Amino acid sequence: MRPVPSNIAKPHYADTGVVKRTDEARVKTPEVIDRMRHAGVMAADILRRAGEVVKPGVTTEEIDIFVHDLTVECGAYPSPLNYHGYPKSVCTSVNEVICHGIPDSRALEEGDIVNLDVTVFVNGVHGDTNATFAVGNISQTDADLIRITEECMWKGIEAVVPGEPINDIGRAIETHAKQHKLGVVRAFIGHGIGENFHTDIQVLHYYDPRHTMVMRPGMTFTIEPMITLGTWQHRMWDDEWTAVTADGSRTAQFEHMVVVTDTGVEVLTAGPGAVSPSAPWKR
Ligand code: MF3
Ligand code: CO
Ligand code: CO
Repeated sequence: MRPVPSNIAKPHYADTGVVKRTDEARVKTPEVIDRMRHAGVMAADILRRAGEVVKPGVTTEEIDIFVHDLTVECGAYPSPLNYHGYPKSVCTSVNEVICHGIPDSRALEEGDIVNLDVTVFVNGVHGDTNATFAVGNISQTDADLIRITEECMWKGIEAVVPGEPINDIGRAIETHAKQHKLGVVRAFIGHGIGENFHTDIQVLHYYDPRHTMVMRPGMTFTIEPMITLGTWQHRMWDDEWTAVTADGSRTAQFEHMVVVTDTGVEVLTAGPGAVSPSAPWKR
């Protein structure tokens, strides 16, 4: 594991790889939300800068080192590192990899698509965001996949309204994906976040009539749809991290961390450093 300087505050799992979820209120105080805003902007800025490194010939290991060193320079801990034993500081998911791809020595090739998922831990809270990038020139099909996946994420974000059920998010995402005949991955979902990387709030990216938890101001969670050109079904590599599409079709993902407000939603990872041109997203 790449070392983290001793002056950086580490999450509880950093040394052992064992994650013990601590009790955490679903509705955050303004003080916690402020810290999450700071973590979110930092993660967004690192993600944007990591995206600028993506080009043919660069290995995902080089991107890992870039993200790790930049995170530490910013005074934060790269949350993935040793989370349930995860060996690297960022997830790099290429082509048919849905999520949790582990950086390795393979060089990116012209025409690849790669998702970078950046999470930082700073001032006791996590900031989590990801985006899919083109490696050089990509096919029109892949460019459309990336664009529609980002649209799916924003449709989900627009569905965040206080007092409404959380399955409005998945319904909006699934509807948009289906219009374009794309698959919605079901095995990986958005999640509550705060002092813990993953809390008990579940954000499905498809419609489930049973998920009727009401969204309340102060709740913080991620929306991170994974959309495929083919099947929604997945397989795991025997590294037990890398999730791929069962049919080998390409897949894209975008992720933002949000807080429910009194009137709608605030995107915590859409600061000035954010990838999306739609940012800032506030109402
Ligand atoms: N950032 C991922 C998410 O969006 C989680 C990565 S967990 C890791 O939830 F261990 F693979 F890093
Ligand atoms: Co996440
Ligand atoms: Co993430």
